[in-house]
This record gives sequence, C-alpha cells and structure tokens, in this order.
Amino acid sequence: MLDNLGNVKRTHRAGELRIEHVGQEVVLMGWVNARRDFGPLTFIDIRDREGVTQVVFNEELFAEAHAKAKRLRSEFVFAVRGKVIKRTDETINSNINTGEIEVVAEEVLLLNEAKTPPFEISSANLPSEDTRLEYRYIDLRRQKMQDNLRLRHRITTTVRNYLDREGFFEIETPILTKSTPEGARDYLVPSRLNAGEFYALPQSPQLFKQILMISGYDRYYQIARCFRDEDLRADRQPEFTQIDLEMSFVQPEDVFNLIEPMIVEVFALKGIEVPRPFPRLSYQEAMSRFGSDKPDTRFGMEFVDFSAQVMESGFAPFVQILEKGGWIKGIVLTDGAKYGRNQIDNLTAFVREKYKASGLAWIKLSETGELTSSLLKNFGEDRLRTMAESAQAKKGDLVCIIAGTMDLVGSALGGLRIELAKRENLIDSTKYNFLWVTNFPMFEYHEEDKRWYAMHHPFTSPRDEDLSKLSEDSAKTGEVLAKAYDLVLNGTELGGGSIRIHRPDVQKDIFRILGFSDEEARRRFGFFLDALAYGTPPHGGIALGLDRLVALLAGESSIREVIAFPKTASASCLMTKSPSDVSKEQLKELHIKIDTNS
Ligand code: AMO
Repeated sequence: MLDNLGNVKRTHRAGELRIEHVGQEVVLMGWVNARRDFGPLTFIDIRDREGVTQVVFNEELFAEAHAKAKRLRSEFVFAVRGKVIKRTDETINSNINTGEIEVVAEEVLLLNEAKTPPFEISSANLPSEDTRLEYRYIDLRRQKMQDNLRLRHRITTTVRNYLDREGFFEIETPILTKSTPEGARDYLVPSRLNAGEFYALPQSPQLFKQILMISGYDRYYQIARCFRDEDLRADRQPEFTQIDLEMSFVQPEDVFNLIEPMIVEVFALKGIEVPRPFPRLSYQEAMSRFGSDKPDTRFGMEFVDFSAQVMESGFAPFVQILEKGGWIKGIVLTDGAKYGRNQIDNLTAFVREKYKASGLAWIKLSETGELTSSLLKNFGEDRLRTMAESAQAKKGDLVCIIAGTMDLVGSALGGLRIELAKRENLIDSTKYNFLWVTNFPMFEYHEEDKRWYAMHHPFTSPRDEDLSKLSEDSAKTGEVLAKAYDLVLNGTELGGGSIRIHRPDVQKDIFRILGFSDEEARRRFGFFLDALAYGTPPHGGIALGLDRLVALLAGESSIREVIAFPKTASASCLMTKSPSDVSKEQLKELHIKIDTNS
C-alpha cells in the first residue's frame, strides 16, 4: 500500500542539513540511495537533487517507522519526518557535506515503488553509453549528470544576466521556417495545409537576427536551438544550442569586447581566471604556424618553413612542390631523438593513413650531437644541420618534415603536432587558451564543382579595403578577406561570427560570385533581400556553441554528457526510439508516399 503525499511539506533538501540543524524537526523527500540493516537499526540514505542524507530507523524508538522502512528498496520514493542529530565521532563521514549529522525517522510515507534499475546509480562502473541513453531517466539521476546540467543552467543564467545588463533583448525566432544557409543539410517538416511544401528547421537564426537589426532592435540574443543534418562526432549533435547574438553599428572589436567579459564571468563559475584581452591571430598566421584555423596554443611545436634550404638543395621532388605553391614544413619534438625506427615508421603510417601524406621526412640530433636523417643523401649533412638549427632543434630532438600541397601539409603536420603532444603529454589540461582567429578568406574554391563557396556564410561582409576586389575580376576573388572571426579555446571552435553585409549592392555581388542567379537568390532569400533595402544599419554578431562551452567547463570530452536527451552518432534517440515510422493516415494527410528504394 502506498501513502498519499497529502499536505505534508518538505522542509529541507537532502544535501542541505548541517551541524547547525541539530535538534530541528525536518521533512525530507527523495529516493532510496542505499540501505543497510543492522537488526533493530536500519540506515537509509535519502537522495534528492541536492545530495544525500543518512536516515536512521530505530525499532526501539519508532517501531512503526522502522517496520515501514523494511519495505523501502533501491530507488523507492519516500518522505520522512524526523529529528536531526549529531553523529558520533566515529560515524562522521567527511566525504559528504551532510556527513556530520543524521535524521532519526519518526514517520515515513512510502510514496512510490521502483523496478530494479538497469544499472546502479551510485556505482562508478558505468554501463555502455547505449544503455545509459536508453534509460536516460536513470542515467540523469547520477551525480555527475546532475552536476553537468546544473553547470549548464548556471552558465545560461550568467549569460542571460550579463546580456540583459548589456542591453540585449531575448527574442525568439521561428523553428518552422525556411532553409537557412549554414552549409549543412536541412531537416524538413512537411506541410499538411500546403500539399507538397515543406518547412525547414533553422540551421541557425541567422537571417532572423539580421532582420531584427533592420527592424531597429539594436541588440538581440537567444539561447537558440539549431538543427543540422550533418555527420556527427563527439562535438556535434543534429540539434544543438547556440548563444546567438547580434548588434547594430559595430565592428569586430566591439563584438570581442562584449564576448570576452562574458566568457570571464562564465569561467569564474568554476573558479577559472581567464586573462584578457584574448590573443588575436589572423587566419593566415594560424594556418602557416599551426596548419589549423583552430589551433591549440597550450603547447609550442609551431611549424618551421624549410623552403629556402629546399631551394638551395635543388632536390627535385621537393623543389617541384614549392614551385607549384606547396609547402615543405616541419615541427620539432623536444627529446624526440629517443624515437627509434619503429616509432618513426608508426608516425609515418599515421600521417599516411589519416591525412594521405606521401611520407614523413626526419632529422634526428642525438644526445651527443650526431645527425641522422631520412634526407641525408639528398640534402647532405651540412644543409640538414642548418635546417635543424633554423628550427631551433637541440641535441636530443627530432625534426619531422612533411612536403605537399598547402592543405595537405597543414592538416597532416597539424594533426601530427597534436598527436605527438598527446603521446608525449605536452598538453597542460589546466590551461584555458582563448584565441580570436580573424580575417578569414571570404571564399573558398571547390575543385569538384569548380565554384566558390562562402567560407562563413553568404551574409558575411568583406573587409572595407577589399570591397573593390569584388568587381568582375575573378582573379582577385580568392584574395578577398572577410570581417569574420572565430572564438577558439584549446583547439576547439567555440563560436563564429562576422560583421554582415548591410548594402544590397554588395550582397548582390556576393551572390553573383557564389554562382546564384538572380532568380535563385530571390527564391531562397527574396524576403531578406527585400528587407535589406529598407534602411539596414551596419551590424554584426556571433554564435557560441553552448554545448561545447559547457562540455569544456565540465571537463567532458563529448557534448552528449552535457545535453539532457542527446542523440547517438546515427542521429537517433534510444530512449524515445526516434526517428520512427508513422501511421499511413498521417502520411496521407501530409501528402507523402514513402519510396525506400530510392
Ligand atoms: P556556426 O555555424 O559557426 O555559425 O556555428 C556557431 C557555433 O555553433 C557550434 N556548432 C555546433 N555545436 C554542436 N553541434 C553542431 N552540429 C554544431 N554546429 C555548430 C560551434 C560553432 O562555432 N549563424 C552563424 C553565427 C553568426 O555568424 O553569428 C553560425 O551558426 O561551436
């Protein structure tokens, strides 16, 4: 038989009671976390969101409560009324913050029973992630998940308060909308009332936030849900959340000066001091020094350019690469001379298999200063010594060199840099290195379909000084730089934004370069082009990935750990079993026929 809650009111949370509550009568409500029976004494730990309190059921003092406690099993829900007492010295538990007290139960209400959970909530041994996701309601009872979601809440609250102080309005934008251009596939929703037509779920609120600027709202933000049908990884979900904002009459520096203090406040929640201003690095510099537009700057191993020595050497295969605009670059691994043949072969396989590099050249300086190298025959010892010197390699170091196109060397040597830093434990995990990467190219050329794509999105403004390069002279297209910026933390892209185009003529030029016919541009963005013509202020903004921000602060390597109900790598929800089929009637109403063969 279960008891009714009736009018019984909770007086405290289970994590709240301390020595100063001793003597008070309290009512706690929660779940059975653990029980221990010692004949006339039964101990039950009651758990709620705020923690755990030990409750003692004493047969001699309160027989009825003690008898009822016999029925309480793991995860049963109950309420208990009793008195707070001080624990004896030998039973104090300094591992929990209620460890100095316990509650002597006088009355118990058994509010609900529970099936045996599929895994133990307080155990350190976790089941597979699939099991955790299938029984997410159980998984979410775990302390770590509750801590993560509490942190997420505190971060969004801090952000909301900060942006409110800075004069931002929180404004919601539609979820059922038209395709927005962020480069991924859209999730589509069929329309019942308009046969054959579809809404798209927003990849971001981009066009709406720009329209809010056109409408004079000056400063907008939203903790916005975004939907992207793209390949998933540990830091990507099909639906995720952005801290999305937009401001009028600003330049990139104004956006940086808004975001930096907000990040400082957010990190202070975990007691982390973030120094300001955040360093700035141009895209070109980031690529040439780290081979990445989101470099992890917690360790060195920057790229060294060997073009000059290669040209002098006359070594034909490398010279040809340089003549075609390629790179010959290297990194120095301090104390890497200890790497033997096998280990170097292993690194070569790593860059070959993962990045399709044609090979890995190396120079080794032994502890005694002896030089060995895979390039000895082609370069000669003297030149190799000059190269090692120019790379500031010391006795005992290893120089790893990759030759190839700019893209290949960037990704392969950049990947090797991270891999070596991980293998050699060079990354200080207590560091939080923020970085603004600026001056992204406006366009990138795709060989496959021989056309230009917007590197950020087509509404990003070119730099003022590059506007003239947008003329018909397509040779200059690749040189146009954008007022676009990314916020990078420890090698993760935390956010991205830009100053937008506010002039209809510039927007038209961009669409032309991107190969949109006037008709296509009108079909996709006609409403926006119309709005742009009605007095658009200069404006810009940014969106930060909230899930990534929380994961980094919670010390989690996957954003699934900071999302209450995430999806798997195949974009399904194991708890609700979605996506799922729907009834024939529903499909008919939506004017949809399924053809699984296509
Ligand atoms: P962008 O596409 O760079 O910019 O997205 C901004 C930030 O959102 C996060 N993010 C994701 N997080 C989890 N899962 C995903 N699938 C995912 N995709 C992106 C990243 C990223 O830096 N409208 C522009 C912003 C602007 O220009 O103001 C935009 O959406 O942390």
